This record gives sequence, structure tokens and C-alpha cells, in this order.
Amino acid sequence: MKGKNIVKNVISIAPMVDRTDRNFRNFVRMINRDVLLYTEMITAQAIINTKDLDYLLDFDKIENPIVLQIAATNPKEAYEAVRIAEKYNYDEINLNVGCPSDRVSGNMMGAYLMAFPEIVADIIKAMKDATDKPVSIKHRIGIDGKNILPDYFERTLLDQYEDMKNFINITEKAGVNKYIIHARIAILAGLDPKQNRSIPPLRYDEVYRVKKENPDLHIEINGEIKTVDEIDKHLKHTDSVMMGREIYDNPMILTEFGKYYGKDINITREEIIEKMIYYVENMEKQNIRPHLFLMHAHGLFHNVCGSKYWKRKINDPKADSRLLRTLLNEINYNY
Ligand SMILES: Cc1cc2nc3c(=O)[nH]c(=O)nc-3n(C[C@H](O)[C@H](O)[C@H](O)COP(=O)(O)O)c2cc1C
Repeated sequence: MKGKNIVKNVISIAPMVDRTDRNFRNFVRMINRDVLLYTEMITAQAIINTKDLDYLLDFDKIENPIVLQIAATNPKEAYEAVRIAEKYNYDEINLNVGCPSDRVSGNMMGAYLMAFPEIVADIIKAMKDATDKPVSIKHRIGIDGKNILPDYFERTLLDQYEDMKNFINITEKAGVNKYIIHARIAILAGLDPKQNRSIPPLRYDEVYRVKKENPDLHIEINGEIKTVDEIDKHLKHTDSVMMGREIYDNPMILTEFGKYYGKDINITREEIIEKMIYYVENMEKQNIRPHLFLMHAHGLFHNVCGSKYWKRKINDPKADSRLLRTLLNEINYNY
């Protein structure tokens, strides 16, 4: 491994806007203490301009190890945002070069920047000037920038392996040694972010090839990874695996990850609900709506008996600790 400046991890939970907030991350920690967590993507501008920095960036100690993901369009704002975030104890700072949304591309951030590796390199240098923490990049295999990239681009379809190689070669020189690669291209015009997470085909082999050709880089693979068998297959070719939607929809899969951390995770759903009750009671004491936390737990009974019932109850905006206690009693009675 090149340099020690890296957060070693086997599995991380993908940054997901509106999902991987503080409440969800606390929910994950009720089940698994080891997986690497990410914030939602936060723009550098939001960090610079917010009036409530704690609301945006603060987190609980139990959430470590945790990565702050930022989106930035130029080195100056990236430097400022990372400098501001320094007072929080993030383990790593990640630059989003994978988001395909037109709003993000329109602001020259996210996947759009794959067409500008030199700018990304400058942003990375600025981030590294602002922190001693490891800095990583999350990106795609490539982009289709038709109708989006400026006219002077001779090619707007930057989807060849060589394009990604060029992107990595240039940004690596700025001091990045960890890349998280969502193994499909992003189509910047014509597909929305949701479609961009399923329509462009997966190209895992090219992520494997990056690792093979760059054994010194930490290469993390991402994109529709759903089972421990799949994780094991990917770990034969890459250093780590990032999972998003599957963990959100089926959080009990987190109990299967103990083997990657040399332990057994035997926690039951009942024990998780006990922890949830404690957490929700704390929210209630602070007059925070429990729904903000409970909505993230709808997948707890994924694929088992009672799943629909749990989902319906827990998604009720009025759900609270009393409801949780009732549900716990029902489970204890029924099983
Ligand atoms: C609701 C949602 C929000 C997302 N927000 C972000 C984000 O803020 N930053 C980012 O890099 N990727 C974001 N993504 C993409 C994920 O990080 C991940 O790359 C993608 O979902 C593929 O992984 P998966 O198939 O395991 O879910 C988001 C995905 C979803 C479903």
C-alpha cells in the first residue's frame, strides 16, 4: 500500500443523499460498529455558507470511522470547505466525481469533472493543503457528456478504459491513493440520477483492471453489490467494496459482515429494536420527530415474515417509541 495515509476498510456504506444522514448512520451502528460510513454529499458552498455548521457536519463518536463527502467545483472553495470541516473528527475526506445529476453537472461538479482531470487534481491538492486526513475520490468508469460538455471537446463520450486511466494517472499525481469506482458510466444528459444507477451496464472487469495495473492504489468497487458471495468475489480483485441500496433496504445484511472484521455479529432484530427505543426516547426528550430516524429502519424485516406490517407501521410519520414497544411485544408474542 502506497503511503500510510489511508483509512483501511473492507466494506463501506455508500454516500446517499437523503439517506446516509446522522440518524441512519446511528441506526447502522446499532448493528455493525466496523463498516466505514459516509455522509451524504455536501457541497463545499453549503459548508462555507451555512449558518448552522453543527447541523451540517457534526456527528456522534460512535459513527467513526466516517468519511465526509464533498462536492466542489474549484480548488479555492474545496480548500475552504475542508478547512472548516477540520474541527470535526472525520477519518477521511472524499471528493464526489460521480454524481450525474444535471444540477450538479450544471455547477461543474460531480461526474462532469471526470472530463477535467487537471481541475480535479488541483481540487485534490487544495484539499490536501487543508487537511492531513486521507483524501479519496469516488468516480464512475467514465461519462457521456453529449450536450453537456463545452463545444471545444472533440469527443464527449469519455467511456473508454483509457479515459479512466488518464483520469486516475493525473489525479494520482496530486496525492490520491484511494479510488472508489462506481462500475458504470454516467450519462449526463437524458438520464436522471436514478436511471444512472441502473441503465448504464456494470463494468466490474475494468475496476479489476485498474487494481491490477495499479497495485499500489487502494481500489474500492461499487455498483449493485448485494450478497456476501458477491463481496467475496470482488475482494479477490479489489481492496474493498462499497454498498449502498442493498444495505439501506436490507440492513440485517450488516450482521453477515463480522467475518471481515474477525468477529461474530449475533445481534437479533429484537435487540436492535431495544436500542432503537432508547435512541427514539432520546429524540423525544429533545422534541425531535422520531420519524426522521424510524424512516431509515423500514428494511429491518426485509424478506422475512411480518415485513409489510413492520414497514407500514414504522413509516407512519407519527411513529414513536410507544409504537416501537408495541411492535417489540408483538414480535416476542408471535415468535
Ligand atoms: C438515494 C441515493 C442517493 C445517492 N447520493 C449519493 C451521494 O450523495 N454521493 C455519491 O457519491 N453517490 C450517491 N449515490 C450513489 C451511491 O453512492 C452508489 O454509488 C450507488 O447507489 C451504487 O451503489 P449500490 O448499487 O450499492 O447502491 C446515491 C444513491 C442513492 C440510491
